Amino acid sequence: MIPHHQAMPAKPASDSYTIKASIVLPPDTNHHGTIFGGKLMAYIDDVATIAATRHARRPVVTASTDSVDFLHPVKKGDAVCLSAFVTWAHKTSMEIFVRVVTEDLLSGERKVCATSFLTFVALGEDGRPAEVAPVIPETLEEQRLHETAAERKQARQVRRKESKLFAEVLGPDFSLRKAKQTLDEKRASRPQRVGGRSAARAGLEPAGARLQPREEPAAGSGAPAGPRPAGRLAAADAPAPRLTEAYANAWGSEW
Ligand SMILES: CC(C)(COP(=O)(O)OP(=O)(O)OC[C@H]1O[C@@H](n2cnc3c(N)ncnc32)[C@H](O)[C@@H]1OP(=O)(O)O)[C@@H](O)C(=O)NCCC(=O)NCCS
Repeated sequence: MIPHHQAMPAKPASDSYTIKASIVLPPDTNHHGTIFGGKLMAYIDDVATIAATRHARRPVVTASTDSVDFLHPVKKGDAVCLSAFVTWAHKTSMEIFVRVVTEDLLSGERKVCATSFLTFVALGEDGRPAEVAPVIPETLEEQRLHETAAERKQARQVRRKESKLFAEVLGPDFSLRKAKQTLDEKRASRPQRVGGRSAARAGLEPAGARLQPREEPAAGSGAPAGPRPAGRLAAADAPAPRLTEAYANAWGSEW
């Protein structure tokens, strides 16, 4: 994926470097005496916001956060130190890498307790996404993260599509029964065949219509009955809404 903002002068990743250190105090901790996950995520968002704004020199918003794994507990009295920089920019979005290191201040032992990739979008005066400068990676770490960023962006695009579909199926009401009804309605609109391809593959069918149960073969057609082979949906209409379908199958009709 080639950035389409080559007209803007590129900026070194180091221009966006941001560091934040805090000591973990009792109000930051849960009843186990370790930091709240949400507190750490707020720190991650803070430091990434500053890094993104330093790169864009515009207002920015968090578009998404990739999964965060808490690898080690962070105890009351420990120091927590976060570093962030912009690894890559596409047109209006930037990827920010955050590393969280904890330190037992008495022993001096340090551990990486989490890493995170976040995507921020720069906003123009009209509040709409605005172009940002490309990033120049200089260190080995910056180069490695820069080279692999386009692939991560593609994975996020798949995830965003799936999230949108999931939100559409769920709707804003606190009623899973209604969500199931929506899904049943989608299932009721069976896919049409277009020139030997499914309508979805031919680009004539909304994404939600992919949530179809397998059509049973006509009697005597020789085609095997039974559940859809794993991967078949993905092969036909990648990226497939796997999460949504898994939830839908788990709900059943009694909710
Ligand atoms: C993020 C937001 C500005 C995107 O606006 P949009 O009108 O959907 O714009 P687009 O679809 O053109 O996306 C703009 C860019 O953001 C990227 N993007 C949008 N959503 C994304 C997501 N969930 N994850 C990663 N990238 C995302 C797009 O890929 C695109 O990147 P590019 O221009 O570099 O190619 C908009 O969805 C928004 O305001 N969301 C709420 C943000 C917010 O309030 N955050 C605080 C926490 S709630």
